[in-house]
Amino acid sequence: MTATTSIRPSTKPLLRALRSPGVMPPPIWLMRQAGRYLPEYRALRDKAADFLDLCYRPDYAAEATLQPLRRFPLDAAILFADLPLLADGLGQKLDYREGEGPVLEPIRNGADLKRLRLENVHRRLAPVYETVARVKAALPAEVALIGFSGAPWTLAAYMVQGRSGAEFAAAKRWAFSGDPGFDALIALLVEATVEYLDGQVKAGAEAVQLFDSWAGLLPAPAFARWCVRPVAEIVTKLRARHPDLPIIAFPRNAGFMIETYAEQTGVDCVGLDYTVPLVQAAALQAKSAVQGNLDPQYLVLGGAAMECAAVDILERLAKGRFIFNLGHGVVPETPVENVARLVEIVRGWRR
Ligand code: CP3
Repeated sequence: MTATTSIRPSTKPLLRALRSPGVMPPPIWLMRQAGRYLPEYRALRDKAADFLDLCYRPDYAAEATLQPLRRFPLDAAILFADLPLLADGLGQKLDYREGEGPVLEPIRNGADLKRLRLENVHRRLAPVYETVARVKAALPAEVALIGFSGAPWTLAAYMVQGRSGAEFAAAKRWAFSGDPGFDALIALLVEATVEYLDGQVKAGAEAVQLFDSWAGLLPAPAFARWCVRPVAEIVTKLRARHPDLPIIAFPRNAGFMIETYAEQTGVDCVGLDYTVPLVQAAALQAKSAVQGNLDPQYLVLGGAAMECAAVDILERLAKGRFIFNLGHGVVPETPVENVARLVEIVRGWRR
């Protein structure tokens, strides 16, 4: 008997809940669980030269990843990095301005695409893989490590628009124009995302999440073409390399399209924004695991309002395949004690 080579099902609650219904208590992690609401994050941010330095220094980024786990008994760590880093890895100039978020030199046509180089991705993003390896080595045994990337449409939205705002009109117009250049950009981002997530998995990530934060901006046919299809391709290609890798996707504000999304992408788990009704979420659990979907403003508010909203989610979804999370990221004004209380509520849940 060679016990060392046998594959044992994971004992980590988060990984179990992706495949099995009714894991009790349900696992919990929070999008943006690292960040400005934590005083220790603000202190680390002040030590770093700038936000990119924080993302690209494995010692700093690993520390930022681990900070929320020292305070709260969460079931997962999510790699500390940022969504536009993949654009930077492809060679697009990226900058952060105080109070503005990411700013990229826009790509607007087929000629601009020539500035991007898939073959540079692993070398330029090697520090991110190093962060994953460091976090993995430091993680408590029952905590899972989630890697992430932006999904192609959301990455493209930033890369074409150059920054948040204006409803990503320039990105939409290029996509809708019929110019094959936009499809070429999406195709490149599919390949780049597969490489980037493959790098994270090889470094130790045990599950991955695709953030499609701007999925809700697209009309249905465009959603099928630039949100569903590219994510389905990423899932197929990643599974060819890592057959058992759990894949979570968060198509924010996908509305009526969420069921089609779960069916056609083949992801293991769909992240639900806070607009998704819990009856619809429960129906979705027949097709995939679900993750979500407390409005982050309840976490700012705390108290009975937060407790009622959290219990409502637990009552309706904890029987199925379920991971507790927010419907979008933790906001900077969130009181730390409310996060502690929410984790306690979910941890104490038994049915
Ligand atoms: O704890 C975690 O969730 C891990 C780290 C993480 C960050 N960004 C750190 C961050 C993750 C997973 C992201 C994903 C991300 N980044 C998304 C998808 C999720 C979403 O929020 O919809 C998007 C759209 C981005 C792009 C981005 N990064 C924006 C628009 C901004 C500016 C807005 C803001 O909150 O400041 C960022 C900056 C950013 N990314 C910060 C952090 C902690 C704040 C930077 C700071 O410290 O000043």
